[in-house]
Amino acid sequence: MEAFKYGCVVRGANFCARPVLARQLSRYVSAGQNVVIQGERRIGKTSLVHETIAGMRGWKAICADFMGVRSVTDVCNRLADALARFDDEENLYRKTLAMLAHVRPVATVDAMTGLPTITVDASASKNPSSVNTLLDAVAHHAQKRKVCVVMDEFQDVLDLPDGDQVLALMRSRIQHLADTCFVFLGSARNAMLSIFLSPKSPFYKSAVVFGVDEIPDDDFYAFAAGRFATGKRMLPRSLFQRVLEFVSRTSGDVQELCDAIWQVTSPGSTLTDADMEKGVQVVFARESSAYATFSKPLTSIQLRVLRALAVLGGAHPLSGEFLRLADVTTPTTVKRALAALAKAELVYDLNGEYKFVSPFFREWIRRRP
Ligand SMILES: Nc1ncnc2c1ncn2[C@@H]1O[C@H](COP(=O)(O)OP(=O)(O)OP(=O)(O)O)[C@@H](O)[C@H]1O
Ligand SMILES: [Mg+2]
Repeated sequence: MEAFKYGCVVRGANFCARPVLARQLSRYVSAGQNVVIQGERRIGKTSLVHETIAGMRGWKAICADFMGVRSVTDVCNRLADALARFDDEENLYRKTLAMLAHVRPVATVDAMTGLPTITVDASASKNPSSVNTLLDAVAHHAQKRKVCVVMDEFQDVLDLPDGDQVLALMRSRIQHLADTCFVFLGSARNAMLSIFLSPKSPFYKSAVVFGVDEIPDDDFYAFAAGRFATGKRMLPRSLFQRVLEFVSRTSGDVQELCDAIWQVTSPGSTLTDADMEKGVQVVFARESSAYATFSKPLTSIQLRVLRALAVLGGAHPLSGEFLRLADVTTPTTVKRALAALAKAELVYDLNGEYKFVSPFFREWIRRRP
């Protein structure tokens, strides 16, 4: 098993226990209270939900992932897949197929994963109302059982041409399932807020907001030191503190840097600052072609603003010092450049402060001549 994992859902030994959050979340789930999970990217929202439900005795989850859905048929397929993968002792697979007859399901086995999949017919599932067929099957499997329904990357439903209509349909079905817990997750903060906190949205006030923040430093240190110890490497607390600060405590980035440090060190060593720097270089080597691709379309003003942001941070981007370093004359120019950089998803606005999406990209830009 790899010592550190990133870019995927982590479970078991790769998951640093989060007992306080797990306890709160399991309380909501068992009470049938719908929850919307809020938190920064790569902080560990999806992993927390999966690990928590797996740890609840007798409970199972139907998990649909809406990442990148482009059509109503895609939404139906993601729900159909979630049902196909829902493993139940009563062997509901056949029953699921019968319940979906309306959207002409085809059962197959995924050649890569070996898991059962269900694909619905595109012409039978193009209207938003087809989502109801799928939700009825979900409801049938979830009602009166210890089953929680997880809807991940939910914000992507909003981007569909008929997104509003699909959301309204989902809401009306979901509100009849008072005893079933739905957990909604998303990685685009603003889009999720607009679905659950905007009075205009059908989902307004339909779920409690549940915040997932950084893993406490002490817990993360105990976890990381334990993982390094499996390869006979000693992680000093002071070095881990620098790792945490370097990546702003984003769980996925902590694991990525730890993995890189693992790659450049040998059993029997006590890890040092020099190892951390070698680890950073490993990440740069893995990702620099992607960084070059991100930077290529940027104008020279945008690049200078990006560099000033990397050097000075994003708390005061309209200050004289920021303008001087970015070599621009007016605050409007900075604002416009930051908006373009946010649109390109290189930076994001966190309560008025601009931040880099990737701390490694920030460092790569900061070190550029
Ligand atoms: N409890 C944890 N212990 C250790 N590492 C974790 C934990 N939770 C998350 N991570 C790290 O963060 C990465 C991202 O986790 P996850 O996909 O659960 O986050 P997310 O918040 O759902 O991300 P996204 O915003 O991309 O959906 C994991 O691959 C892992 O490296
Ligand atoms: Mg996630």
